[in-house]
Amino acid sequence: MAETRKWVEPDPKRENWFWPTDELRERAWAADPKIYEEAAADPLAFWAKRAEEISWFRRWDKVYEEEPYAFRWFLGGKLNLSYNSLDRHVEAGRGDKVALIWEPEPPDEPNRILTYKELLAEVSRLANALKSLGVKKGDRVGIYLPMIPEAIVAMQAVVRIGAVHSVVFSAFSAEALRDRMLDCEAKVLITADGYYRRGKLVSLKPNADKGIAGTKVEKVIVVRRAGNEVPWNEGRDIWYHEITKDQPAECPPEEMDAEDLAFILYTSGTTGKPKGVMHTTGGYAVQAYTTCKWDFNLHEDDVHWCTADVGWITGHTYINYGPLMNGVTTVVYEGSPDYPDYGRMWATIQKHKVTVYYTAPTAIRMHVKWGEDWPKKYDLSSLRVLGTVGEPINEEAWLWYFKHIGGERCPIIDTWWQTETGATCVEALPGIGPFIPTVAGRPFPGIRAKILDAGGQPVPPGEGGYLVLEPPFPPSLLRGLWGDPEKYKATYFGEYGPRYYFTRDGARMDEVGNIRITGRVDDVMNVAGHRLATAEVEDALTQHPLVSEVAVVSRPDEVKGEVPIAFALLKAGAQPSDELKRELIKTVDQHIGPTARPAEIYFVEDLPKTRSGKIMRRVLKALVRGEPVGDVTTLRNPESVDHLKELVGYEG
Ligand code: WT7
Repeated sequence: MAETRKWVEPDPKRENWFWPTDELRERAWAADPKIYEEAAADPLAFWAKRAEEISWFRRWDKVYEEEPYAFRWFLGGKLNLSYNSLDRHVEAGRGDKVALIWEPEPPDEPNRILTYKELLAEVSRLANALKSLGVKKGDRVGIYLPMIPEAIVAMQAVVRIGAVHSVVFSAFSAEALRDRMLDCEAKVLITADGYYRRGKLVSLKPNADKGIAGTKVEKVIVVRRAGNEVPWNEGRDIWYHEITKDQPAECPPEEMDAEDLAFILYTSGTTGKPKGVMHTTGGYAVQAYTTCKWDFNLHEDDVHWCTADVGWITGHTYINYGPLMNGVTTVVYEGSPDYPDYGRMWATIQKHKVTVYYTAPTAIRMHVKWGEDWPKKYDLSSLRVLGTVGEPINEEAWLWYFKHIGGERCPIIDTWWQTETGATCVEALPGIGPFIPTVAGRPFPGIRAKILDAGGQPVPPGEGGYLVLEPPFPPSLLRGLWGDPEKYKATYFGEYGPRYYFTRDGARMDEVGNIRITGRVDDVMNVAGHRLATAEVEDALTQHPLVSEVAVVSRPDEVKGEVPIAFALLKAGAQPSDELKRELIKTVDQHIGPTARPAEIYFVEDLPKTRSGKIMRRVLKALVRGEPVGDVTTLRNPESVDHLKELVGYEG
């Protein structure tokens, strides 16, 4: 089977198996491994018990219901995500507790600190402002914001009134924004003038303007963050501070059905067109709340810092909803980890006494490169639990993180999940363990996973196969793809469905149920924790007028995990040049964003093709990885491979 990364065998002598400290075990929400058996015996009872910990306007009549290709949780239950994140803490007398600490990038700019009471008032004002613009339950609102408190406020305000947010990563291009706004037919967009990144002011508003041209967006709310001058469309654009200024600080939360749509988040599939993943209210709330609490062992005094961007599911669940539903303090950082120097993350942990730090393997590998002298300068003793997410973590990075950041005291919770699962599904629990480098852990209690072979049969322990989830499906698993029910069925329930949800990841499982993820088995890359289809990069590159055909494959990268490598066939008469390479990179920036830039562009005279004319990406992949190319006799043009070998300096 296809594996995006090679692994050494997992530590048979168990030298690198780590266990919770006594202190951690004592404080843990889950410390007895029996919880796994208990939950497995009755997953519905397990989740119903968890659901009782959040606030419902009306209790559910039935916990779970399923039919082929559809399942529902907490039927008949009524709740609101924003009420659960804010009001209930204020009502419980904890309104003065700090909900959010904002760390701006410029080091001399003061923090913004919002208590639960203040955050609730701010959210309510924006919610009322949205209502004044005619936004109603079920309407879609686009959010294209940098990492500022208003990003959290905006998401909360939208779900408060029962509208549906569609957050777009602020580093995505205008075109990527437009695709998403068109697809979900958003009525309003919330954006900002600009923000700071690596010491520079980045202007955002012009992108937003371009991105909504020709869409159904009628009103644009603009947060003044950086104070830069922005183009203005009188009658359409409204300053955030002006529209919220005179709004009442109370706004009753909409009573949402457990299965009402909460938000849409676009993610990459195998084609060039991103898919709108749909998450509903009740199941999402319960799993986001529970996993955040148990994975990071959250208690009232925790300061939780997840370094993701709100534009990704990680930011939705573990910066916004998860921590706030748990009533802890969440840290939002605006900028880059290397500004003003490589110690910024550690300085920030020290400054705010962060207790939980959740980041991506690619970021850890960067810190490994920068060296341990940076974290050594700071007091990191406030940390209790560390987390990683987004891609497989290599042993070296894991051990470095464990030693130099966690002081060999903090467990590393390697959480496997996806945009589609909404919240974590596979991980070790901090009070239970074991914590094993490169092994994510067991399925969360109440979640069932299996490893199947291509024919749909379970494989023996230790053997590679495809990771699937079994019913009852996780409460926060997606309910559909916006506007594309057929694709939903085909993508997730096609190969093994409807009995199994297919994750499209390769994995192995040991006897105990510990799972090691080996990577995507489709044409989806994981570039510095960003999910990207090779087809998306291909689509972008072929927009350049001089490109005739292009193939993109991924290559493993020490820091970023994977990087895209492009093979471009130019149109007749076009000359390859470095200048053209730069232009192609620009094209990718324009159509997707800088995260999708190919690490290498090869100009080729021919691409290896099957007799039916399909590009054989398998051959290209082997070439860039220095792996055996395998049988090329079925190619229409086997001679193309020799030329390519020379081009890439192949020595396999
Ligand atoms: C894909 C999902 C979940 C939020 C961030 C990414 C890979 C995710 C792990 C992990 C190995 C992982 C998988 C998955 N992945 N977490 N702990 N170990 N691989 O969300 O963009 O939807 O990507 O990320 O391949 O399918 P996403």
